[in-house]
Amino acid sequence: MAELVKLTMNGREITAEKGTLLIEAARQNGIEIPSFCYYEGLTLQAACRMCLVEVEKTPKLQVGCTLPVAEGMVVHTESAVVKESRKGTLEFLLTNHPLDCPVCDKGGECELQDMVFRYGAGESRFRERKIHVPEAQWSPVVFYDAPRCILCYRCVRACDEGMGVKALGVANRGAISEIIPNHEDHLECDECGACIDICPVGALTSGTYRYQTRPWEMTHVGTICTHCADGCRTTLGVRNDKIIRGNNRDHSGVNGEFLCVKGRYAFDFVEHPERLQSPMLRSGDQFESISWAHALEIAAKKFSAAKSFGVIGSNHTTNEENYFLAKMARLGLKTENIDHHRTGDLATLFDALSGKAALSGKNDALATTDDLYHAKAILVVGADLSQQHPFLAYQARANFRHHTSHVYTVTTGPVREEAQAAASVRVEKGGELAGVESLRDKLKAEAGLVIVFGDAIQGDALRKLVAFGDSLGMPVKYICLVDYSNSRGAFDMGVVPKNGGLSLQQMLAADLDVLWVVGANPLKNATMSPKSFLVVQDLFMTETARHADLVLPAASAYEKTGTVTNVCGEAQKLKHAVKVMGTKTDLEIMGLIAKEMKLDLGIWLPEKVFEEIRKNIHGYDVSKAVLDLGAVTTAPLNGRVAALPGLIKSSGDTLFTSGSLTKYSKILNEVMESPGVLYRGQGPGARGQ
Ligand code: SF4
Ligand code: SF4
Ligand code: SF4
Ligand code: FES
Repeated sequence: MAELVKLTMNGREITAEKGTLLIEAARQNGIEIPSFCYYEGLTLQAACRMCLVEVEKTPKLQVGCTLPVAEGMVVHTESAVVKESRKGTLEFLLTNHPLDCPVCDKGGECELQDMVFRYGAGESRFRERKIHVPEAQWSPVVFYDAPRCILCYRCVRACDEGMGVKALGVANRGAISEIIPNHEDHLECDECGACIDICPVGALTSGTYRYQTRPWEMTHVGTICTHCADGCRTTLGVRNDKIIRGNNRDHSGVNGEFLCVKGRYAFDFVEHPERLQSPMLRSGDQFESISWAHALEIAAKKFSAAKSFGVIGSNHTTNEENYFLAKMARLGLKTENIDHHRTGDLATLFDALSGKAALSGKNDALATTDDLYHAKAILVVGADLSQQHPFLAYQARANFRHHTSHVYTVTTGPVREEAQAAASVRVEKGGELAGVESLRDKLKAEAGLVIVFGDAIQGDALRKLVAFGDSLGMPVKYICLVDYSNSRGAFDMGVVPKNGGLSLQQMLAADLDVLWVVGANPLKNATMSPKSFLVVQDLFMTETARHADLVLPAASAYEKTGTVTNVCGEAQKLKHAVKVMGTKTDLEIMGLIAKEMKLDLGIWLPEKVFEEIRKNIHGYDVSKAVLDLGAVTTAPLNGRVAALPGLIKSSGDTLFTSGSLTKYSKILNEVMESPGVLYRGQGPGARGQ
């Protein structure tokens, strides 16, 4: 157990672990020492002097953010001399800072404004003209206003340490110091916006949010990002039924405050003018708008009359929707032909791990996002984490910085993780297992390992990888990478063929009477039998919807409640943020079709369906109250589903793409077209620092 020390703070005796910084010991005991440059998780800077405190028997004020606690220390954080010092520090910070709070985006949530309100002087003694520097736009999403900058260097450290990008630096000295981007007048970076979010003042502002609203005019809806499979929680700022910003400043969810460019900005597809807002029926080469009542009637009639049926589900719809779809297919439509676009070989992994503690409900061999942060060693096989799984990459980087974990990579191209790697192996496609084997001696010397692998490892190769893990004689956990926000949930809820049902590819090739596609776009890269009556539920006129006979406009994840399960099997709650006129949630559409068909499938409210999931899906028996508190790790049942080696394929999305949604995000497209595209255009791994 860690050694404790006793000290006195503001007359109160407190204890803290030896080595704890004064500022942290104070926070742990409900005492706030103001700070600007100190930021938990980043390296110490000691630049702003806002945290000065009085420590008895020391000759001058001490820096609370760098001084560790010591036995018997007597500290005063609110004495007259400390308050006077804060007043002085703020007076200096305001020397050049413009007093444009009424129009500054940060007004109302600005740390400088709050500190001046609490500790600042009533008036300034500076009469000199303030230095003016015009505002700069560094990218479609990042703006910098130098005079507002208080040079705390949080942004520089967040970009370097948190993101591993190093796109920000400091130019000049003294009063004319300013933050600069990595390419003269613009950024070439991940465009994650972490620097904007961490800025305590309004020096860095967001291209999408600036001058849109005051923060107190929004409602804040905590939900889950709908892009990749990492399951980052995002708080959407909503005003007048419009999403204005995304962030996770309350550090809730598995991702703390991390969001990538997609989670932070790419919610604008919701209001894209091409959103489908009315059901549409094919009439020759054209579509005609029809009422919901008429559309449901047609669907029900066709479904009831069909002798052969295929159902293709989604990687984006909720667990409740996937569960209901699987139930409706099997019990209502009496078909086992149900599948979704599988992007990782979960079936073989679960089967290969069957019998191990992993799948007895404890999940010991399936790694969580937190395991990635605490693992002694991480092996990345056949994946470019920074491009395809930005949050998992962030966890691995944070682990390396905070716990000096050992990182190993086996990839076909350069990846950013190599910058931290204890060993990297570059292989030809198909040579991943041999690459892993070549690391055997090094890996054997580790105390534990998390293996993260992409779609290059499936079928037999995956069984061999698990056998390799077993042979190391240490705790080994796995993360099977899948692409989208509920890829894992679609698998767990049974949107997969069992008992001889047709796979997605087989359904496209078969002459089925009806093919029902819910939130997927299988015809993007494939064709299908022209004989099937095609019903499509989607947000947009995708390649698949264009072929449909009946199109039903669906709500997006930001317009729904329910749950989704991320790449690591962590279930989290979605919360409805906005409504788009004319659409219905996929669950409601299915429920209404079932009702029209007079099928008895129970109530289709998300909460009711979740109760059924708790009872019927192995590993999902989690109470609503627990789910309300955050992510819950689920445990899938082993070996239930036929693996389809060879047919499992990741879409290979990058940091700036996520299937069809990317096409409809104006801001992602602007970012793609900005000068920073110089390196992004070279595809995954091009940066490969
Ligand atoms: S947007 Fe992200 S990657 Fe770009 S400079 Fe800011 S922190 Fe760095
Ligand atoms: S831009 Fe913001 S975060 Fe960066 S140094 Fe200036 S005040 Fe600090
Ligand atoms: S890492 Fe994935 S889940 Fe997280 S914000 Fe980015 S796209 Fe969304
Ligand atoms: S918070 Fe301590 S010097 Fe800035």
